[in-house]
Formats: sequence, structure tokens, C-alpha cells
Amino acid sequence: MSGPRIEALLSQMTLSEKIGQLVMLAAGFSVTGPIIGGDASGAVREGRAGSLLNVFGPGAVRDIQRVAIEQSRLKIPLILGFDVVHGHRTVFPVPLGEAAAFDPTLWEQTARASAREAAADGVALTFAPMLDVSRDPRWGRVVEGAGEDAFVQSLFGAAKVRGFEGESLGESGTVAATVKHFVAYGAASAGRDYASTDMSERTLRETYLPPFQAAIAAGCAAVMPAFSDLSGVPMTANGPLLDGWLRGEAGFRGVVISDYNAVAELVAHGVATDLAEAAALALRAGVDIDMMSGAYEQGLPLALQRGLVTLGEIEASVRRVLELKERLGLFDDPMRGLGADGAAPLMAAHRELAREAARRSAVLLRNRGDILPLSERPQRIALIGPLADAPTDMMGSWSGAGEARDSVTVLDGLRAARPDCDIGHARGVGVDEADESGPDAALALAREADLVILAIGEARDMSGEAASRTGLDLPGDQANFARAVLDLGRPTVVLLSSGRPLAVPWLFERAGAVLATWFLGSEAGHAVADLLTGRASPSGRLPITWPRSVGQVPIFFGERPSGRPASDGHYTSKYIDLPTTPLFAFGYGLTYGRVSYSALGVEPPRPRRGDTITVAVDLFNDGEHPAEETVFLFIRKPVARVARPLLELKGFSRLSLAPGERARTVMALPVSALAFPGPDLRPAVEPGDYEILVGPSADRAQLLRQVVHVEEGGA
Ligand code: GLC
Repeated sequence: MSGPRIEALLSQMTLSEKIGQLVMLAAGFSVTGPIIGGDASGAVREGRAGSLLNVFGPGAVRDIQRVAIEQSRLKIPLILGFDVVHGHRTVFPVPLGEAAAFDPTLWEQTARASAREAAADGVALTFAPMLDVSRDPRWGRVVEGAGEDAFVQSLFGAAKVRGFEGESLGESGTVAATVKHFVAYGAASAGRDYASTDMSERTLRETYLPPFQAAIAAGCAAVMPAFSDLSGVPMTANGPLLDGWLRGEAGFRGVVISDYNAVAELVAHGVATDLAEAAALALRAGVDIDMMSGAYEQGLPLALQRGLVTLGEIEASVRRVLELKERLGLFDDPMRGLGADGAAPLMAAHRELAREAARRSAVLLRNRGDILPLSERPQRIALIGPLADAPTDMMGSWSGAGEARDSVTVLDGLRAARPDCDIGHARGVGVDEADESGPDAALALAREADLVILAIGEARDMSGEAASRTGLDLPGDQANFARAVLDLGRPTVVLLSSGRPLAVPWLFERAGAVLATWFLGSEAGHAVADLLTGRASPSGRLPITWPRSVGQVPIFFGERPSGRPASDGHYTSKYIDLPTTPLFAFGYGLTYGRVSYSALGVEPPRPRRGDTITVAVDLFNDGEHPAEETVFLFIRKPVARVARPLLELKGFSRLSLAPGERARTVMALPVSALAFPGPDLRPAVEPGDYEILVGPSADRAQLLRQVVHVEEGGA
């Protein structure tokens, strides 16, 4: 129940002012939707807007907040929202890249740093983390989430919420987290953004809802519904899931903020004839704030007149919004400790964290003949390709208030790390257009070099919102350029920068080494140089299965078995033109070490409900370099009342191994974690045999396996 201050305020508010608290308008600092924001000061002064997005910086925030608290009738402070997804001024790796670190502590730290910078710029709420599990790399927004697995996405989302919100939203340096996009947005039909999604309730409960449950448990302040419909019901009007599951079963007590223009888009979805109906559907489903569609401001008064909504329903949403403003401390300090100089002074302290996060996000996929790390002797290096000196692209999509001038490019980083080397640079080709100077200069440089470093991949705007692709190839003429470089026969290291896995098996066949660098953010160049020179050992692991071809999509390790599992047999679940296996499995990633696994121990062999299973395994690094190893713990229930996935991820742990070092890592697996929705969709632990599998990736050939038998009974 809200406090006396809110009730007193509510009792003074006119209908227009009540609806105004449910309106979020876009200011013009950044464009993130189809309707361009402008000067919102009039609406703020007249109490017709209670929050804004895309405005930040001490001057602008102070000005607009003063309009609210000094010029409006009731002087209610504004919530200022912004997409602080993977950084504010200091840009960290894109989420799909940072997920490769498999480190919740790191994920929380970068969110914490981002919140400090954003809050110093006057941002009170971020539209992040994105919790959308996705198994379809054609979908552009796969870059914004933590990959294909619900367990990883849950840990990632909870860590981000903790990092953004700190101990209390009343403290300075915190921002309210708006987890998004509720729900199953990543299952867009054909991988096309905003397209319909359709799935069984079982899949929804096993894969797409758990990350939101985890974020709610971590205390997220707000939730944003997806643009998409789920089995015909647009999420912005989905009462059973918003009011039923989110506020009911999951116990969410915060604010629901629509996506950009999504309330009005209920008309385009074909479930509302006008803005009044759209507004009524959204409000009654549980959407408190209408972002930038005008439906609440224009439609709710009409909906009230038509009896489509009640004043009580409007006031319930207003209460939740005012409660969030109270939690944020806005009534006591509308400027929330706004720094005179904003975020800039905080950046220096975040540089090392950005470099560490970038190092840990890159994934070494190929390293033939240990071509990496680079030789310590001075050499001629040809650094070529369109992403070698690309400060804007290094930031990736949704780069917040990041500025390209703050990016360290690969060229910057390599020259700083190896001043003893003669490092020549030429683009040779654009990302998706020819380079004005043509490929000859780059090829000539490569021909004379001791080593070629080829920086290729996608531009940052080829993933993210409204950026789905039909193919997973190298864009433009890069494939031909790369083949021409490889034909020179010089030792070649490829830096593959992208917002999704790229299906380029030929490149992995021919290159000496391939480092997947996603979009690593402000410190990209230093981090890449640290890895190439061996100052740090690559440790990233794939948070998403890497396909051979787009024709295999969706492809993920948690698939259900078939009655005719893929094999060499004719009548089996396979393709006639490609293997069914991916190019690289979920969890795959090389280090400079050489780590082997042995002596899997699982205790007790016959656990009961309420027990915790202990899983231990020996690791040995018999390489010549240190290794940061990530050990994955999977389970499989081979027989159950409902067919279970081929593998389910239940844990992972990281450990460092010096050359020649042996270590034993131990992971705990509560029997309760074996629960899954039974035939009645209620979560339960089914007795019987469970395979416990441990190893470096979801490639079963690499997993050590033991079987435990869960007894009937127990807590
Ligand atoms: C965009 C995105 C959403 C973002 C919002 C505000 O359309 O779908 O993720 O938070 O608008 O920019």
C-alpha cells in the first residue's frame, strides 16, 4: 500500500494530471523509436508527462527537472529513463559478448559502473537488462541478451539488476532496472524483429519466464513488455501474463513500462480499433506507463467515458509510478545527487574494468599451430580489414552515451602494445561496400608481412533493434577479400567482430587463428592487444551455439530428443547436405593452455529431495601458458513423464590454472534444481536416474558423465 504522501498527492490530482503520470515522452537526445521526441517542457509544465526518456547530462536534466518541480502545479519530479544497456559513457562489451565471460561478479560490476555514470548524468532508470533468450542469430537483438540458455540469462539478468540498483534506489549512483522484453521476444518468427511469437506454455515456462522470475527475485523495479504478440495476444495487452503471471504468480510489485509506441501499436496488431480501446487494453492488462504513443493521454479519457476503464484502475497505476518515484528518492532530492560535471569524471576509474571485461568476452575459436600468442620478436604486421580502425563499430549497438572518440581501436591497441613491430594498416574493403582505395594496398601490405591480422565482420548497426538478417555471412565483399588475403599464404589471424555468430566455416578452415570479438566497447583495442600478445589468455566461452549454416537455425544444445535421433542411418533426424552438429558448441572456447578433465566424482549416488549433490572433477593444464578454464555442469534426465532436453545447464565455475597445474573443482547441485514442469506444468523433482555431465562445452563427446538415482520422498 502506498504511503500518506502519495495518497495526499493523489487526492489533489486532476484526471489529466493522473494520466500525465502514466505518460513517458522521448526527448531529443537520442532516437530509439519511430516517433522523434522533441521539447517536452510544455507537457511537463502542464503535468501531462510524468517521465521522459533519452535526456541526460547535468544541464539538460537540471533544466527539465526544474520545470517539473518549480513550474508544474503539483511539482511532482520526473523519472528520466535511458537505455544504459552495456555502459553509459564508458562502453562495456555488448551483452552477448560479456555473457561469454560466464562471470556474474563481472556482470554486476559493469552494471554498477554503468549506473554510477548514468546517475551522474541524471538518469534514474535504465531500460535494461534485456532478458530475451534467443536461439536465432538472424534476429538482430540476439546481441542484446546473454544468448540461448535460460540458466545463463537468469544469472546475467539478476547480476545486472543488482549492479544497476545497488542496495537501495535511494542511494546515489543507482538506477532503477527495467527488465525487458516481457516475454519470449527472442522467439520472433523467422528471426524477424517485431514478428509474432508462438509457443507451448511448457516452452514458455521452461525457457522464457525463468529469467524474469530471477530478475524479480533480484528486485528489478520495472518490466517492459515486448512489442510482439505471444500466440496472438500482444504482450502490451496480455493480461494473463502481465497481471496473471508477472504480478500474480511471480509477485512483481513494480511498474510496467510499455515499449516505444507499443500501446498505440495494438491497433496495428489488430486487437484495438482506436487509441481509446488500445489504452484500455494496455491499462487493464497491467501496463502503467505509455512510452511515447499518445494512447494514454488521448485515449484514456475516452476509455473512461466509454466505461472501458475505471478511475480506480487509472489510480492504481498512478500509485505504482509515484511509489517508484518515492523509492528513487525523487521527492526528497529530485536531482538525485546530479554531479556538476556529469559522468565524464567517472570514466577514468572504469577504463580498467572495461578492458578486463573486453578481454574476458572475446572467444578464441581457432589457434592452429599456436600461432597465438604473437611471437615476442619484432615483426612486420599487416593489420587490414574494415574493422581494424573502427571506433564507432567497437561500441556495438545500444551504446548509451558512449562516444567514438573514447574508443580504443585495434590499430590503437596493437601499436601501443607492440611499438617494436612495424604495423602497417589498410582497410582493403568496407564492411558492406567497396573501399575507395580498393584492396590492392591491403593485399600488398599483407604480401610483405610476417603476420597478417584481418579485422572483419559486421558493422554495429547490423545487429540490435530492427536489424535482423536473412543470412549469417560476412557482409558485402569481405568474403572475397578475406579469401584473397588467405590465398597469399601468410600466417593470418582473424578478428571476427559481430553481433551474432557468423556461419563462415571456410574462414575457420583456412585461417591460422580466429578470435570472436563481438563488439568489445571502449577498451576493445587494448583488450585485443592484451590477448594477441599473450599478456592475457583468452578465456571467453560461447554463450550461443555457433551454426555451420543459417539453414540449421534454430540450433541450440537444449533441444528435445527425436524419436529418430540424428545418425548415419537413413531414416534419422538429419540434413542430407550438412552435418546436424554446429560449427562450435555452446560453451566452446580455447585458451592458451591445454586443459584436460578427469576423475569426475558425484556424491551421493542416491540423493533424496532436499539433498545437495556434490560434483567434483580434476583439471590439469599441460600447456605452456596459464589458462582461465570455465567448467560446465549439465544434467540430463533420460526418461521422464515428459521428454526432457538432451542437456540442461545447471552450473558453471571458473578457475585459473598455471602451466602444469592440477586442481579439483567442486560444484554444488541442489536436488531441487532438477525440478521441471511436469505433465501438469507444475515444477516438480521426478525421482529416477539423472545423468550428471561435466566438461568444457555442450559437446557431449567432451563431457564426463555419471548417473545418480534420485529416491522417492525426502524434503
Ligand atoms: C526501443 C526498444 C527498447 C528500448 C525502448 C526505449 O524501441 O525496443 O528496448 O528500451 O525503445 O529506447
